[in-house]
Parts: sequence; C-alpha cells; structure tokens
Amino acid sequence: IFDGSLPQVSDPETEKALLEAAKIIRDTNDTVAFPTETVYGLGGSAMNDESVKNIYKAKNRPADNPLITHISSIDQLNRRIFNEWDLPTTSILQNVPKIYHPLIEKLWPGPLTILLPIPRTHDSLSQYTTAGQPTFALRIPSDPVARALIALSDTPIAAPSANASTRPSPTKASHVYHDLQGKIPLILDGGSCNVGVESTVVDGLCDPPMLLRPGGFTYEDILKLGGAAWQDCKVENKNNVALHEKVRTPGMKYKHYSPSATVLLLTPTKSKSKAGKLLSFQSIVHDEYAKQSESHSIKKIAILTTHFLDSIQPNDIQLPCETVILSLGTTGEDIQANLFSALRSVDEEDNVDLIFVEGICEEAEGLAVMNRLKKAAAGNCVPF
Ligand code: TXA
Ligand code: MG
Repeated sequence: IFDGSLPQVSDPETEKALLEAAKIIRDTNDTVAFPTETVYGLGGSAMNDESVKNIYKAKNRPADNPLITHISSIDQLNRRIFNEWDLPTTSILQNVPKIYHPLIEKLWPGPLTILLPIPRTHDSLSQYTTAGQPTFALRIPSDPVARALIALSDTPIAAPSANASTRPSPTKASHVYHDLQGKIPLILDGGSCNVGVESTVVDGLCDPPMLLRPGGFTYEDILKLGGAAWQDCKVENKNNVALHEKVRTPGMKYKHYSPSATVLLLTPTKSKSKAGKLLSFQSIVHDEYAKQSESHSIKKIAILTTHFLDSIQPNDIQLPCETVILSLGTTGEDIQANLFSALRSVDEEDNVDLIFVEGICEEAEGLAVMNRLKKAAAGNCVPF
C-alpha cells in the first residue's frame, strides 16, 4: 500500500473507461461515479473548488457536510496533499500521526477513514472538500477500479456516496443511475459493492479517540488492531442532533438513508422465544398497518427479515394488502452487503408504502447496520 503501484487492468474496455474517467477527474471540473468496496462514490478532484462544488450540486448535499478524500497510496498523499516529493522510504508515514499507524498498516487499503490536520501547503485541498472543518478525512479504498482511477488521474479524489442526498447509499451502478442520471457525465460500473456500508470514520486527534461513524470495519476491529492508544476509543452516539448544532461528523445531523416509503424498525429484545417474537411481530405489523391506514391507503408492504423472521410467509401476516418478503441474510456481513440494495428494491421497484425491517443486535457488523437503519426509520423503532 505504500509503493503507489497501479492495480493491473487486463481488458481494453476497462482500460478505456478508466482513462476516460481519469481524464475527467484530472482535466475538468466534472464528476465521475465509481465503485468502491463500500458503496459507489461520486468523485471529483479534491483540489479543485469547481469540481467539489459540482459534487455538492449533483447530490444536492448541504454545504457544511465535508467530503472524504480518496488516495491510492501514501506516496500520493505526501506528493499531492503535503507537497513533499522526495521523502525517504523510512519516513513515508511522517505526515500521518503515530496513533493511526497500526490501524493503517493493518486496514489500508480498505473501509477505514481517518481524520488528519489540514496541511498548510499552497496547492492542496479545496476549502469545499473540508467544509470549514479543522481536519480532512482520508482513506485508501481497496476496490481495484477505485484505486486505478485515483492512481491514473494522480489526483486525490473527493467523494461522498453517489446517492441523491437523503436517499440510501448506492451499492450498484443502477442505483447511481436512478438518482443522478442527467446530472453527471459518467458512471463506472464495477458490479455490486461487496462490503455494502460506508467506511468506518475514526478520529485519533482527540483524547480519547473516537469512532465517529461505524462502517465496514467493526468497532471490535479498531479495538483489537489499533494498539494501546485505541483501547479507550469511544463511539460517537448522537442520532438526533439539532440542525444548528456543530457536530464532529456533520453528516450525522441530516436525514439519511431514507426510502420514499415509511420504514419501521423492529429492534430485537433478548427475552422472547422464537414463537413469542413471531407473535409480537405480527401484532406490531397489524397495529402499524391500522395506524398508517388512517391517514393514507396502504396497498403494499414489505418485510425485510434477518435471523428470527427468516422463515416467515405472506400467509403469516393476514393483512388486506400485498406483502413482499425479502431476506437480508442471517450473517452480519450478508445483512450489511444487502441492506441498501434491499431498501431500494422494495421502494423503487415494488413501490411499497410501508417497510418493516427486522433489526439485529448492535454488535460487530450490527452496529453499522443498525446505525443506518435507525436513520432510515427516522426514529420509528419498536422493540419486538
Ligand atoms: O465508504 C465511504 O466512506 C464512502 C465511499 C464513497 O468512500 N464515502 C462516504 O462519504 O460515505 P459520505 O460523504 O457519504 O460520508 C462521509 C462522512 C460524513 O458523515 C461526513 O460528515 C464525515 O464523513 N466527514 C468528512 N470529513 C470530515 C471531517 N473532517 N470531520 C468529521 N467528519 C467528516
Ligand atoms: Mg453518504
């Protein structure tokens, strides 16, 4: 990860698309959507004010929500962001505070984002990339298409998730097309993202260090791999922040991950048996259906299942409306990978009015999954 070598691209069509995308990033003010291992990103040069403004515009993103800068190697960080061209290999990490070294040695390239102090060099990050923060967010993605694009353009790329603001993040090129068609010139299609939730954002510049956004690497991974300094790492826990409040992760305060349909999140309780849970679930579905039907007609509902409801059938529901049942999977990794795609498919293709999601416990991948689902449900949570 430190040598800046290019991921190998073997077929001519991929190479042509990558060169076209890299040219847009390097030579124009335009943006390009591209796959990463977490979710699709909407990228533009992190150094160019106009490119970054175009990212905010295409997504309709609030201007005070800073972007993550993506690089392909530490060498590129030193050259392009810190303006240091000839660092000896022994001091290649000198621009990265020591607290991050164990984490980046083990987890980069991959879904980990770190905060660094903004460098005071002349030709560096756009003020719009950092949106008034004293720090900038940085990661090296592991997806080969993402890294080839960044390396080929030799430009640090500012990239939020490539969804329209407030919508679920895109994990397929078709999701990006749905939200941003007509607004951006190019989408690189790299298939489905295998992690499926965004990167884990950590702040090692404060004491104690903080996990600002749970993501592709778990809190347990950070504690286990970060070394002594991360043993006190705390999880930022602000789900409801007032709009005027200044928070450490500005993205936390906005409506997020929301389908058009209403989402009701069922949060698991430990006490009930499987049969008890099913009964409890059925009565919640009936109550919520009755409540919602008072204000508008409910023609179709969806149930996204995980562990307990995995065997549920439409007949078990007995409601006078159509029911779509979709499994998110039963392991943390599968649920994470399917989450956004499932929310989008019942919303955008099945056009359901109401989505019930069986939540999971907030351990390991469950922390990131439930963080996204609580926002999608906008506080609409019922224990079952
Ligand atoms: O996996 C990911 O991180 C994806 C892919 C495309 O790399 N990107 C992504 O970007 O999720 P976005 O913009 O959707 O989320 C970035 C989050 C936001 O919550 C933002 O507020 C926070 O990172 N952030 C960015 N810079 C920050 C900074 N300097 N201080 C605190 N939070 C920051
Ligand atoms: Mg996002």
